[in-house]
Amino acid sequence: MQQQELKRLVTQELELGIRIIPDASHLTEGEESGTARVLFLAQGEGEALAAAAAAEGLPAALQREVRSLAARGVFSGRLGQTAAVPTLGLMPGYQAVLLCGLGEAARSEGTDAWRDAGVYAVRAAHGQGLVRLAVPLPRAGRAVCRRRTQALAEGLWLGAYRMPSYARGSGAPQPPALREAVLLAGTAEQDAPGGLEPALRAARAKALAVYAARDLTNLPGNYLVPDTLAGVAQGLAARYGLECTVLDEREIEEHGMGGLAGVGAGSANPPRMAAVRVRGTAGGGEVLGLVGKGITFDTGGISLKKPEGMEEMISDMGGAAVLLGLLHVLGTQQPRDDVVIVIPCAENMPSGTAFKPGDILTVMNGQTIEVLNTDAEGRVVLADGVLYAKQLGATRLIDVATLTGSVLMSFADVATGAVANNEGLLGEVLSAAQRAGEKVWPLPNYPEYHEMLRSSVADIKNAPSKDRWAGCITAGLFIGYFAGETPWVHLDTGGTAWLWSPRGTEPVGGTGVMVRTLAEYIYPEA
Ligand code: BES
Ligand code: MN
Ligand code: ZN
Repeated sequence: MQQQELKRLVTQELELGIRIIPDASHLTEGEESGTARVLFLAQGEGEALAAAAAAEGLPAALQREVRSLAARGVFSGRLGQTAAVPTLGLMPGYQAVLLCGLGEAARSEGTDAWRDAGVYAVRAAHGQGLVRLAVPLPRAGRAVCRRRTQALAEGLWLGAYRMPSYARGSGAPQPPALREAVLLAGTAEQDAPGGLEPALRAARAKALAVYAARDLTNLPGNYLVPDTLAGVAQGLAARYGLECTVLDEREIEEHGMGGLAGVGAGSANPPRMAAVRVRGTAGGGEVLGLVGKGITFDTGGISLKKPEGMEEMISDMGGAAVLLGLLHVLGTQQPRDDVVIVIPCAENMPSGTAFKPGDILTVMNGQTIEVLNTDAEGRVVLADGVLYAKQLGATRLIDVATLTGSVLMSFADVATGAVANNEGLLGEVLSAAQRAGEKVWPLPNYPEYHEMLRSSVADIKNAPSKDRWAGCITAGLFIGYFAGETPWVHLDTGGTAWLWSPRGTEPVGGTGVMVRTLAEYIYPEA
């Protein structure tokens, strides 16, 4: 079973096909069953909506229907709103027109509304049993059109994501999945040679990355153990011809990675350290180190968690999942600078061989950690992760980790918390997040917080004694201690990597959040 899962994760493709054609006349005839024409509409009064429908060539009877839906308060173009209008033969080739609201934001140059509307369009299509969508592309100047098209395609693919189920099933017939979205390019600039294909390619790679991150995050702990997670890194690296090394438990000891060895010591599934290197185009010696927390299950260890909700801890490798997903992007679009991805993988279990409160662990540069709480395990494996990334040449560092529950106290499951030692790098990451439409918010790194980690018997302790005050900040700064002078940003997805119920455009379970931010950071102009 595990082998099968691993293979599926590595060979994964997108089921929904998206292609661009010059205009609707290129749609194959005689396929109206299950085909809908999508109409994206900015928020407005009935008259404005009907006028927009007219501009898209909808027959008068359907324009009246749009006006009537608005008058009855059923559809106003609010973002997230959708309505399916049957064409009843008035538009040959189309069974329905799918109205999708873009809200107010559509009038700005931002792309978020288009991505979100794409998600909602696909969900509505699923609900209506539609199998094909014909989507007129956003009309705008070339650059804006390109960005909106990319966001829209991303949204269509993200909306088509379905969480795998392990149920044997009752045999009840499932509604058909949306098979294809055909993007209709109308204006001359959209048809320009090579115009929108790169945007579509970029969207495809990012969508594949998010799918992979979500699927990995959703895998149960008995399917995904440290060796499997490292195996996914190896498999993806092989798929894209990238260099990958995996250290086993013996090699981890030999490298002096006592943090990772300590956290992994309690489990029958031994730890692994995976590293993937992607060569950049510049070759200027700048190396971006990306380090992802890869705890395949976090029981808390000897400082055992309470049972309620512990199942969420299958997502404690959400940071690793994001970076491995990102290999779909890095593998298809060479970055400017070299990138090394480092994934410390371990299972945090209580047992006779487990690490304990009071233990002193020595990480790979010889520094020592006093363990006060074995449930603060992520930062301990990330210490070795960050040190290993530096040894592999990283000149700047970003770590992604479901590091704390404390981040939920500040931001709920809405925003990812950021802690950094470098304002410049932090600013770049925050601006990438904004362009990607993901919420990241910075936390302060005052010296008082560093003090809270001072140990009397080791270089640093893994948890402040004083309750859990500023837990998200001190956890981040613990990692920053090992980043040292190297510019570093920490992204705590403890609240955002996994949702208990779907919210907005995001699904229940693994979200893959930070894939798009990091892609945006690595390829700022794409
Ligand atoms: N993996 C958890 C953090 C977590 C908890 C993420 C709930 C998502 C949801 C992490 O290893 C942890 O247990 N952190 C503790 C640290 C504390 C013991 C110092 C926390 O934040 O409560
Ligand atoms: Mn923990
Ligand atoms: Zn954890």
